[in-house]
Amino acid sequence: MSNYHIKHLEEYYQVYRKSVREPENFWEEVAEEHFMWQRKWDNVLSWDFSKPEVKWFEGAQLNITENCIDRHLATRGNKTAILFEPNDPSEAAEHITYNQLYERVCEFANVLKGQGVKKGDRVCIYVPMIPELAIATLACARIGAIHSVVFAGFSSTALATRINDCDCKTVITSDGSYRGAKTIDLKGIVDDALDSCPGVETVLVAKRINSDINMKQGRDKWLQPLLDAASKECPAEVMNAEDPLFILYTSGSTGKPKGMVHTTAGYMVYTAYTFKNVFQYKEDDVYWCTADIGWITGHSYIVYGPLTNGATSVMFEGVPSYPDFGRFWEIIDKHQVNQFYTAPTAIRALAKQGTELVDKYDLSSLKVLGSVGEPINEEAWHWYNDNVGKKQSPIVDTWWQTETGGIMITPIPFVTPTKPTYATLPFIGIQPALMGEDGQELKGNQVDGRLCIKFPWPSMARTIWGNHQRYRDTYFSAYENKYFTGDGALRDDVGYYRITGRVDDVIIVSGHNLGTAPIEDAINEHPAVAESAIVGFPHDVKGNALYGYVILKDTGESRNHENLRKEINQMITEHIGPIAKLDKIQFTSGLPKTRSGKIMRRILRKIACKDTSNLGDTSTLLNPEVVQDIMDNVL
Ligand code: WT7
Repeated sequence: MSNYHIKHLEEYYQVYRKSVREPENFWEEVAEEHFMWQRKWDNVLSWDFSKPEVKWFEGAQLNITENCIDRHLATRGNKTAILFEPNDPSEAAEHITYNQLYERVCEFANVLKGQGVKKGDRVCIYVPMIPELAIATLACARIGAIHSVVFAGFSSTALATRINDCDCKTVITSDGSYRGAKTIDLKGIVDDALDSCPGVETVLVAKRINSDINMKQGRDKWLQPLLDAASKECPAEVMNAEDPLFILYTSGSTGKPKGMVHTTAGYMVYTAYTFKNVFQYKEDDVYWCTADIGWITGHSYIVYGPLTNGATSVMFEGVPSYPDFGRFWEIIDKHQVNQFYTAPTAIRALAKQGTELVDKYDLSSLKVLGSVGEPINEEAWHWYNDNVGKKQSPIVDTWWQTETGGIMITPIPFVTPTKPTYATLPFIGIQPALMGEDGQELKGNQVDGRLCIKFPWPSMARTIWGNHQRYRDTYFSAYENKYFTGDGALRDDVGYYRITGRVDDVIIVSGHNLGTAPIEDAINEHPAVAESAIVGFPHDVKGNALYGYVILKDTGESRNHENLRKEINQMITEHIGPIAKLDKIQFTSGLPKTRSGKIMRRILRKIACKDTSNLGDTSTLLNPEVVQDIMDNVL
């Protein structure tokens, strides 16, 4: 079917127009031809953004793992599905074929069943980037359990919050993990978390580092002996199109993390279709996305998107700097990677190392380069284009979100002419809108506003676990009948989009989405802290770094500020994880507040960015005098 694979710009416009004019016919055609359905749908789409309620392919029945695995066995059984590259380059890479993946997923699914896990149960997966992570994820999907993968860099407190929020009775983890030169006691973190998770009955532990860990009698079980005893056949559970496939947590600007719920059929169709087109994947290509499966990028574009297309997907356990900063290039060379998908923060860190390491390796296999997670600045774009792609491989700057499930605005390589720092055109089926200050849609080109999406797409999140009202308030209340993304964007003279960044209190640090509120809550746990406020400021590697303004309690005693800074960051590490640590901490006597008591982050942001030329009218503040004081002591 020609629509499935777009090959030139005219075709893009043609298919795009069709996808907008007749979205149901369009998506029905895509769904018809490329997937394995146990029963086809009665209705392609029903939606109402005021509730909000969105249903795709209602009446259809399927199992996504049959599409990721079973469907390929006849033609690709011996093809590598997952190519595991370990942290230590001297350890052999592992090629898991589709045949082997089938057996390992079935075994794992049978183990879960044996532990009493049933369709609809939530299973928390807190596993590093080892094959068991992908296999556990697919095993849940095989039996209809809802997986909730938690990034294995999160702290025990963050893990506990996520386990409790969706009532997981089962947790899958490992005895530890390797990260560059470090080993991490993952099971210890799980044990700490479980002190506050009374609902957890079973912990399945994969062996990775062979450390001597504490196993709690009756609760903790080694995975391998259970797998060894399990059957290699496991029938796929019949899932309805709108049955939840997974929950994935993302930070909001306020409150606890939001458990975004993604459902089965629409998510499958959209991630498969975007993967095929955005990476122009061809049968023998080796595709590598450097993200962690703990983020949406890994769910959609390491596991589901590639596997539904029968692709070979590289899974890398380590970090770009180990054993040296040439590791990414070494892996591309070693496995002859054709599509490489990474984050601007990684590109900036690697660019800092110069070109010697990147020139040492043969990167001629590369065809497409991807970027995701935050705006890519012009300098990083050119470095990536010149030194990695040698000006031969188009860069796809893909804009999307945990909530959108799949890529939304992106060039299609060899089809859409790229433009540095621009995510360019909406993907097929995506209808963006830019909204002005007055709440009206800005029509035409050369406009700058808040980015919304005005029509449903198949992979959009359907709700926030346990809190539909919050889903509605966060995404569907700012503008009537539109999904609000939280990002600002501009549209240039030819209709290309450039994402300008968050317009809410979410800060993207090294591509990680961090809400201000949970970090402030963590800081405020410190006994010496009275109040705090976090803002972002530009950082040449991380994109943004965090700047904290902290008011200390007046206890009369003098405190060593350097020690306090360390303790505050330690507090954050314990509550959230090291990714949320502050680069700068300024102690201050007050925070600028409105008369209703709201902290004026806009002013704090400008001061942290050393951009105080236009602070606006501060006279209406409750305490205008603190502004000068903060400016005088800025770090
Ligand atoms: C936020 C979503 C999408 C998977 C990884 C992040 C920012 C993402 C881009 C891009 C500019 C981007 C946005 C978005 N973002 N990709 N190509 N250009 N900004 O998922 O953690 O849900 O974060 O990341 O601000 O809203 P996430």
